Amino acid sequence: MQYSDKVMDHFLNPRNVGQIEDASGIGEVGNAKCGDIMKIFLDIEDEIIKDCKFQTFGCGSAIASSSMATEMVKGKSIHEALAITNKAVAEALDGLPPVKMHCSVLAEQAIKAALIDYAEKNNIHIAELDDVV
Ligand code: FES
Ligand code: FES
Repeated sequence: MQYSDKVMDHFLNPRNVGQIEDASGIGEVGNAKCGDIMKIFLDIEDEIIKDCKFQTFGCGSAIASSSMATEMVKGKSIHEALAITNKAVAEALDGLPPVKMHCSVLAEQAIKAALIDYAEKNNIHIAELDDVV
């Protein structure tokens, strides 16, 4: 299987690994296909994602996808972050092998789960999340 240089880079040197204490939102999702787990922590101020960290118990593609996804959401508004699809994450990594595309789905779902958690904690309504839950 051929992995892009970017996938290898983000797998070997993952960005934003760890946790955020008192995170504004935490999302944890699992991949039913393989049992892998991804957890995303968001620090949100004035509707802007100031910081993002992740913990992923999973394959190299899941780790690279989480690393890239955390880089992509940092500095974005909640609405911009919700527009990030797993395809966009995979494209930013210069592609994933077809059998590994499902790993990038975890990243999209974990970000959404963290934003749902944030919305619930703050009692706010985020229209884009209505179809997710
Ligand atoms: Fe679990 Fe990919 S099958 S690491
Ligand atoms: Fe499980 Fe990649 S094979 S997330």
